[in-house]
Amino acid sequence: MNVLLLGSGGREHAMAWKIAQSKKLTKLYTAPGNPGTAQCGENISIAANDIKKLLEFAKQKKIDLMVAGPEAPLAEGVVDAFETADIKAFGPCKAAAQLESDKAFAKHLMRTCAISTAEGQVFERFEDAKAYIASRDEAVVVKAAGLAAGKGVFVCDEPSDGINAAEKIMCDKEFGDAGNKIVVEDKLLGEEASILAFVDGKNIYVMESSQDHKPIGEGDTGPNTGGMGAYSPAPVITDKLMSQINREILVPVVDGMNRHGTPYKGVLYAGIMVTAAGPRVLEFNVRFGDPETQPIMMRLKSDLIEVMLAVCDEKLDEVTLKWDPRPAVCVVMASGGYPGSYEKGKAISGIEDANALDDVFVFQAGTKEQDGKLVTNGGRVLGVTAVSDDVSQAQKRAYEAVDKIKFEGSYYRRDIADKALKRIKS
Ligand code: AMP
Ligand code: GLY
Repeated sequence: MNVLLLGSGGREHAMAWKIAQSKKLTKLYTAPGNPGTAQCGENISIAANDIKKLLEFAKQKKIDLMVAGPEAPLAEGVVDAFETADIKAFGPCKAAAQLESDKAFAKHLMRTCAISTAEGQVFERFEDAKAYIASRDEAVVVKAAGLAAGKGVFVCDEPSDGINAAEKIMCDKEFGDAGNKIVVEDKLLGEEASILAFVDGKNIYVMESSQDHKPIGEGDTGPNTGGMGAYSPAPVITDKLMSQINREILVPVVDGMNRHGTPYKGVLYAGIMVTAAGPRVLEFNVRFGDPETQPIMMRLKSDLIEVMLAVCDEKLDEVTLKWDPRPAVCVVMASGGYPGSYEKGKAISGIEDANALDDVFVFQAGTKEQDGKLVTNGGRVLGVTAVSDDVSQAQKRAYEAVDKIKFEGSYYRRDIADKALKRIKS
């Protein structure tokens, strides 16, 4: 089977690494990929959202399955285009991808399905948003409704910060048209977790839980990033909580999407805040998480292509997911300055030494080959991932591997998985 994977981040390297282990695979192409995915197949220089060129390539190379990593091509209708051309495509169609690409749509759907989320309102005019935020004295969260690469969300403890955020999004257009509408919602308190599930339109198969670390700074301080590290499983998600999330969130949203006439297929990612009053949805994403996918793929024992085909063929009830029971921890190494501006082109050394450690794998994200050398090429550069018998060992191993890797200005959080350890010990 020939597979075409779209994307170029750490998530895509983890997916490519797993797809390359499939017995069903003949050849894997990644568009555009990175030096990590190049080790798992062939990279092709077509942008992940150039649907016309991707389709031409797929026909020429007799692609049997297209897998979209990031949200942008899904929101632009890549699955619709491939399905029309009779090529199997893993991911939701454009209308269903609105669950992520339009936070106002997601909020409305949650309301109509009685799914617990933060109370919120949608605004299309800055003046209205300003008046609303000024009228409240609690903290608010201001979100660009469209896609903003995880950076369009502002948690504001003061109304004046909320108004500034709304102005940045709606008037200064910091995220372009993604800021034509905003959602203003209550700030929720608790611990976050990522719940990812395969969905084939009707059947839901929940994966092992995971947890991201969104803020740049240790102790969850500073601005939000794409994600600075992750671990799986997330001890905050007990079996009881997982069944509650399944029953009260995943089942209703999949039903709601069907009733809305936009059946959901692919990976559904629910960003959850575990509050004192129970689980609340922070957001839905329509694809695997980055960096959650790195520890999840390290733990998944089943054949990923088989599962994805079962989703495409609406036969998810016929597969069983097998997991490595051991926990995995992924530490993201980033370019100094990220999520603000940073320099690129710094030589990276030590990946081979890190990979030589038992049960360690270094997934590449913002890297590129330059004159035969590996250099930095993005904000999040590497996802150094380790599996071990317990979280403490996995964390130790991951940082041991991080210590072997060098590039100028490298930055990483030193507290990835501390929250899991604290919960396990208490
Ligand atoms: P989102 O992209 O909507 O998940 O938001 C990104 C991050 O902002 C989340 O992972 C949370 O850390 C934070 N966040 C979003 N919504 C809320 C909320 N209602 N209350 C508290 N934190 C939030
Ligand atoms: N880890 C957050 C995301 O993938 O959106």
